[in-house]
Amino acid sequence: MRIAIAGATGNIGARTAAALEREGHEVVRISRSLGVDLLTGAGLDDALTGVDAVVDATNAPADDRDGTVTYLGTATGNLLAAEERAGVRHHVLLSIVGIHAVDGNAHYAGKREQERLVADGPVPWTIVPVTQFHDFAEMVVGWAEQDGTATIAPLLVQPIAPDDVADVLAELATGTPLGRHVDVAGPEPQDLVDMARRTLRARGRTVKLVPTWSGVFGTQMAGEVLLPGKDARLAPTTFDQWLGAVAG
Ligand SMILES: NC(=O)c1ccc[n+]([C@@H]2O[C@H](COP(=O)([O-])OP(=O)(O)OC[C@H]3O[C@@H](n4cnc5c(N)ncnc54)[C@H](OP(=O)(O)O)[C@@H]3O)[C@@H](O)[C@H]2O)c1
Repeated sequence: MRIAIAGATGNIGARTAAALEREGHEVVRISRSLGVDLLTGAGLDDALTGVDAVVDATNAPADDRDGTVTYLGTATGNLLAAEERAGVRHHVLLSIVGIHAVDGNAHYAGKREQERLVADGPVPWTIVPVTQFHDFAEMVVGWAEQDGTATIAPLLVQPIAPDDVADVLAELATGTPLGRHVDVAGPEPQDLVDMARRTLRARGRTVKLVPTWSGVFGTQMAGEVLLPGKDARLAPTTFDQWLGAVAG
């Protein structure tokens, strides 16, 4: 099959492209740095020529709620319209578990808008809600780190390896549209502060972590709101296995 990956230079997009190529599929890589911009639509029609399915693994820059909704909404609208013109038969959206239960997060508001446009859109679809990735704790520390200290919320998550996410997306992109997929998660729950400490140790870095609910993530995200549903599809790679591999 000929499959386009929007966000193909990103963490998950690059892995999904590689997974599809390993299976013998033809991959079209879409990103601004590769000359295709979902926000303006530049290069999109050419990129989607002859494409059977599209995986959307793009991201939005950090912004406020309105900015994020506008970014992801505009990008998704342009992508879906171009897919319709090109006769694409399947749109696969990488989304996040728990976004419908948390109102006060700007990125989640943008993801809900993406889901709405896809579900109401012209192209048969699969929406894939996925839990936080194994490298999420490190990313969150990076957002807040200043002078050797970082605030971090003690979120309860069930993280998944980026390569496992890519394998699931590659499998779904080559199948038929399923509508809303069950939650996809890693094998076991983790505390985000503990994940951050262990990741920093594995990297040989010293950062003082200050647990708080008054940073990027508030108490709306406490409890089990980010955990996958009971019928979730669980991927195999544990956080410890991933950590062992990144520590090398
Ligand atoms: N981090 C988590 O734990 C987690 C968990 C579940 C779901 N997710 C979701 O996973 C998705 C992908 O995350 P990621 O960490 O893999 O993203 P990422 O590494 O930040 O990559 C984003 C990709 O999108 C491309 N992109 C951004 N704006 C674009 C535009 N206007 N036109 C074309 N390409 C554009 C970027 O390339 P250019 O900059 O070259 O354009 C890049 O290839 C996100 O939507 C996120 O919500 C994340």
